[in-house]
Amino acid sequence: MKIAPCNTFGGEFTVPGDKSITHRAVMFNAAAEGEAHITGALPGEDCLSTAACMRALGATVEFGGTEVRVVGTPTFRDADCDCGNSGTTMRLLTGLLAGRKVHAALTGDPSLSARPMERVARPLRELGAAVGTTDGHAPVTVSPARLRGCTVRTGVASAQVKSAVILAALGAEGETVVEEPILTRDHTERMLAAMGADIRAEGTRVTVRGSALHAADVHVPSDISSAAYFLALGALRGEVLCKNVGVNPTRTGLLRVFDEMGVRYALENERTACGEPVADIRVFKSALRPLRMGAELVPSLVDEIPVIAVLCAFAEGESVIAGAQELKVKESDRIASTAAMLNALGGDCTPTADGFIIRGKKSLAGGRVRSLKDHRIAMSGAVALAASARGGEIEDADCVNISFPGFYSMLEGKGE
Ligand code: S3P
Repeated sequence: MKIAPCNTFGGEFTVPGDKSITHRAVMFNAAAEGEAHITGALPGEDCLSTAACMRALGATVEFGGTEVRVVGTPTFRDADCDCGNSGTTMRLLTGLLAGRKVHAALTGDPSLSARPMERVARPLRELGAAVGTTDGHAPVTVSPARLRGCTVRTGVASAQVKSAVILAALGAEGETVVEEPILTRDHTERMLAAMGADIRAEGTRVTVRGSALHAADVHVPSDISSAAYFLALGALRGEVLCKNVGVNPTRTGLLRVFDEMGVRYALENERTACGEPVADIRVFKSALRPLRMGAELVPSLVDEIPVIAVLCAFAEGESVIAGAQELKVKESDRIASTAAMLNALGGDCTPTADGFIIRGKKSLAGGRVRSLKDHRIAMSGAVALAASARGGEIEDADCVNISFPGFYSMLEGKGE
């Protein structure tokens, strides 16, 4: 994919639905009593993997564009579940199945099969779950077991791990308390409460009791992680408005970064839809200051770090991103792949054990981006190229379909 450089970039965008919320709306309704209609869903490959798994387990899931009809089944049949490239599918489903008296095998593509799965299996075993991994990785197996509630510390700031334990706790006897080291995205807690689960969240602690779920319609807001690419281009090249974006406070670390870097922006039309805060976000071209950020902020912007690194390359001075070691176990090792992307385009980025040091020079030359089939590297690379002097190409560019089908056509024609 060729990306041309632009001096100005701007316009109004409605980016696709939130990936985390779409996964949950499909998976939880597939495990509930009744029929639900989801609108604004993301028809990206990861969410289609969740839909296929839930079908294999016996639910009806019909995707028609951004609308989904789900007829749930509180009892699943034994199944092999192909989770494709999707960590959220594999980790949340392992938790959901742990307390549901089924035999299941969960497999994934080579990238997903290289990602750690004991982080989910270990806390689930504390509840009594029969979960096996293959040397810590997929294939993951789940067998029937009697689960008993207890206090579980996730040990890692991961919404996927937290959600897996919460979902298992729905099928456990008694009360389960889940504690995480730093608050992560809370879409699971919000949606399960709306579906009738006995669940209470206080800070980094969630208390859950065994519960049945009732189907609930969901309207999915646009994904702030997808909006981030357009907002970043606005900050670099012009005025951008992203409409109907989910602004759940556990997801808006990007706005704290904008504050720190001097990006001018405004939230407009703030409202709540299906228990999730939503707003339009307007960003104006700004002179960027360097960034210093650490672990506390990471969970609220973990998927945005590659594009934040691009912004740092366009700031004047040295930025330091630390406490982000989780990036090493994403779809690629994003500490290595982000640094390689910036350096290939003429940037100056030193990868560290838990982040980056980026010496911003207010420009990038351009060149060739190796996406390594990681959707967020491809899209961050596209932003970097659009704002670069010469532009360039992206290798394995179609991996953007994992989270953002139509990304390149939305980008096209909006810059001069
Ligand atoms: C997600 C949680 C995050 C994020 C991923 C989606 C979720 O992963 O990176 O894209 O939907 O719960 P971790 O839980 O591994 O941090």
